[in-house]
This record gives sequence, structure tokens and C-alpha cells, in this order.
Amino acid sequence: EHADRAKLIEAHELAGKLYEYLLHNTEQGKEAKQYLHARGMTDKLIETFGIGYAPSRWDTLTNLLDKKQFPLPLVEQGGLISAKQDGSGYVDKFRDRVMFPIRDWKGNIIAFGGRAMGDVQPKYLNSPESMLFHKSRTLYNLHAARPQIRKSQELVLFEGYMDVIRAWEAGVHNGVATMGTALTPEHAEAIRRLAERVVVAYDGDNAGQSAAYKSIPLLENAGCHVKIAMLPGGLDPDEYISAHGSERFVREVIETAVPSIKYKLFYYRKNYKLQEDGEKLRYIQQALRLIAGLTSPIEREHYVRELCSEFHLTFESAMQNLNEIRLQAEKKD
Ligand code: GTP
Ligand code: MN
Ligand code: MN
Ligand code: MN
Ligand code: MN
Repeated sequence: EHADRAKLIEAHELAGKLYEYLLHNTEQGKEAKQYLHARGMTDKLIETFGIGYAPSRWDTLTNLLDKKQFPLPLVEQGGLISAKQDGSGYVDKFRDRVMFPIRDWKGNIIAFGGRAMGDVQPKYLNSPESMLFHKSRTLYNLHAARPQIRKSQELVLFEGYMDVIRAWEAGVHNGVATMGTALTPEHAEAIRRLAERVVVAYDGDNAGQSAAYKSIPLLENAGCHVKIAMLPGGLDPDEYISAHGSERFVREVIETAVPSIKYKLFYYRKNYKLQEDGEKLRYIQQALRLIAGLTSPIEREHYVRELCSEFHLTFESAMQNLNEIRLQAEKKD
């Protein structure tokens, strides 16, 4: 078991080296590199993240592993190669894709994310679960980001590889991402062990906003202080950096992330037509319910005051309402 793990890591490291070599030294790789350049990746960044290219042939990696006498059934379990239907051998799993190595927190390559360059589906092909790779626990780039996360006691959580990498270039060295899967309680616990504070910087589209909303209770239950970075116009961090540059990304997105309560208020707000009295009153009730859930009395007062000034309410009536909500919640417990 231990020996299998070590062997499988070795196979991944070898694959990573091969993919890097092919990106930098072949005609097909040249196209992949052009794709990366067009997406704003510098050579230095490509090297830092060990990005490579898996060619379109069926047997490039399989042959190398075979020649080096790796046990192919084991490598298949790790997801680098697939058994042929007729049982006559193996073929490469990743073909004609830009390859992002995924490392464990010690820096060993344990999986890959492979991105198609055209409109090929799926857009990303990730390694399957294996004895090395557990998606519900792995955070992309944790290995490199760990020192800065510990030092700053803050972690920035992104949706995708590209976001982590472009943000790194922008100076955000405490960024990690989940593997396209939802954030899990295990992720949240791992995050809390490293940092007190989390900035969630998911995509600005509806899927990203709803994933950010869902991440809040998970992270807060693990004991993290949560802020949400808001991406305008449905952009993701990578697109925002291309459109507005690194400095604005740091200053206007990361540094202006809002406390989770503010985000929740904003999130609910979109569902109400605030020009209409009835809707406005329903929104105010909803807002008070959210504020009532805050544990700190000072924070409750602060957000009630903000709500009052926006909707021209007296502080007394709003507080009375809030206290009724809290009483009812207590009764339920
Ligand atoms: P890039 O900028 O090229 O990364 O694409 P994108 O910003 O449109 O990616 P998107 O926001 O759709 O996805 C964010 C993350 O979700 C990716 O980094 C992947 O980890 C994951 N993901 C996206 N598409 C797929 C897919 O088709 N299959 C799998 N398994 N994961 C995906
Ligand atoms: Mn997305
Ligand atoms: Mn995205
Ligand atoms: Mn997308
Ligand atoms: Mn993107």
C-alpha cells in the first residue's frame, strides 16, 4: 500500500515532467503555449505552476511508463491511463489538453486537471478519485500558498485553476481552489486549521454567486471569518484581471470583499422589486431575519441602523421587530 502510493506519485511526477517537456519542445505544444499566452499566462507563470501539454496521440505516456517498467494496472487505478475495451493494453487518459498538475500539501503531484483548448467537452477532464487524490479534501495550490496563508492568517478561495494562477501573478499568494466540485466540510476544516479568515472569490455569474452563498455556513461552522469578493458583470477573477488589470483586481475585488452578512443581504435583495411597497416590506423582514442570526449585539445594531437609514425606519421599531424574531427562534430551539 505504502509502496503503491510512492510508485503512483512517481508516475505522476514523471507524467508532469513529460507534459512540461512536450509543451516546450514540440509543434503541438507550441500551439498549446500560444493558447496559454493568449490567455495572459507568461512563460514564468507556466513554469511556476508546472503547466504542460498532453499530446493527441493515444500512447505517449503509456509507452514511457511501460518502458520504465511501471506497473500499468496501478497507474490505471490512479487515472493516468485507461485499460482498452478488449483488454489488450492501455491508452493515455489525457489527450490534446493543457495539463495543470495538482499537488498535495507536501508538493507531490497526485492528479491532473486537463483543459481542452477548443470547444471540446468536457472543458476540464480531471483525474478520478484514487488512493492519492481525494477531491473532497484537496485544494489546488495549497502547497505553494501555505506559507502566505499561515503568515497572513487569510486564505482566498477561488473556483478554478486559472483564477488561482492569474491571481498569483497579481500578487495574491494565498489563493487556492476546489476541484470544480463544491466546497466540503472537510475543505472547511482544513482551511480553518491554517487561517482564521477566508475571502471567497468565486465567479460573478449566477452559479458562482450561489456557490459563494452556500460556502458561507460551511466555512462559518468550521470557525472561519468569511468575506465575499464580488465580481462585477458576471466576470470570473481571471477575466476580471484580463479586463481591468492586476492592481484593480487586488484593490477593488480582493481588498473590498464584504462581510458575509452584507453578501447575504445583497444576495436576497435581487429577489425583491424594491420599488413596490409590499416587496420592500418583505425584503425588510428577510433582512431582519438575517441580521437576527448574528451573534454579536454590536453587529446586529450596526446592520439594523444601516437598514433603517436606507428604508427610513425608526431604530426602535426595527429593533422591536428583530427582538421578536430572536424570541421566536429561541422558542424553536
Ligand atoms: P477557464 O477560465 O478556462 O478555467 O474556464 P472557466 O472560467 O469557464 O471555468 P469554470 O468557471 O466553468 O470552472 C471553474 C472550475 O470548475 C475549473 O477550474 C474546473 O476545476 C471545474 N470545471 C469546469 N468545467 C469542468 C468540466 O467540464 N468538468 C470538470 N470535472 N470540472 C470542470
Ligand atoms: Mn464558473
Ligand atoms: Mn470561471
Ligand atoms: Mn464557465
Ligand atoms: Mn475563467
